[in-house]
Amino acid sequence: MRMKRTIWLSGALVDSQSAMIGALSPAAQFGLSVFEGIRAYRSEKTGALNVFRLNEHLERLFDSCSLVGFCSPYNMSELESIIKMVVRANDYRSDIAIRVAVFVDGEGSWTSSEPINLFVAPIEKCRSDILQLKALKACVSSWVRIGDNSLPPRVKLGANYINSRYAYNQAKAFGCDLPIFLASDGKLSESTGACIFLIKDGRLITPLCTSSILNSITRETVIVLGGEMGLLVEERVVDRTELYLADEIFLCGTAAELTPVGQVDQFKIGDGSPGKITLALLKQYHAAVSGELEQHASWLTPI
Ligand SMILES: Cc1ncc(COP(=O)(O)O)c(C=O)c1O
Repeated sequence: MRMKRTIWLSGALVDSQSAMIGALSPAAQFGLSVFEGIRAYRSEKTGALNVFRLNEHLERLFDSCSLVGFCSPYNMSELESIIKMVVRANDYRSDIAIRVAVFVDGEGSWTSSEPINLFVAPIEKCRSDILQLKALKACVSSWVRIGDNSLPPRVKLGANYINSRYAYNQAKAFGCDLPIFLASDGKLSESTGACIFLIKDGRLITPLCTSSILNSITRETVIVLGGEMGLLVEERVVDRTELYLADEIFLCGTAAELTPVGQVDQFKIGDGSPGKITLALLKQYHAAVSGELEQHASWLTPI
């Protein structure tokens, strides 16, 4: 594992091993930190490194800041320049993941809104290998997904992930790879760090943005790509039992890309291996992130 890594913290490029935030900071104690996980992919044809859907990630980061009452220390174009600078400083050869976090540093409580700090940390992370892909075993969690009137999932806030942690620990204890959340109305929501799609009779089905999910950028990308591939897309309220009867299921997210699910609770999905439509969509997703789809060139920001 590469140990030497340059990140951006407190307004400067620093070695990640010497980068410090306050032990008494609200970020450390209360998870008062909004963040984005962003990917940059190398084009297999040109070798260029491009950030995927950077604007959408930064817009969501600003929305998260606004809802938790933070004032971002940088505007969009400044953030874009910082991200490019820190990625270039690392000179990675592979695909990468970039974590961008705006958080409350210093000393304070959960009511504090300053001092606001920012880090940008790129690490090497390769795209998934379609030939090696395995379908995961999931279970419907007895933990309920956080909701818009309690801890809004639309905000990508560190503290929100503790809801995911409870469900993840339970899923692991039950011998599963991951949990699937229902929302407080008992309808399908999302997984711990990814949204969910079902495929049934050639239709691509996913819960609504109002079903206690993060407004996922990959979800929107899959909806566009699926439509272009001629699939009928249904964004709607989804019942739990629709999961059990699905032909295929996959999770989607910036980190997860498209991850097939082969079993939910005691029900096998299809033949339990990654589904054909899921794999075709993942192939198209990889084409998009690699800059092979001319119609989606605007999704890429060159470093
Ligand atoms: C809770 C949650 N849902 C969904 C997603 C997928 O969102 P995106 O596609 O924007 O990465 C993520 C990942 O960031 C997540 O943490």
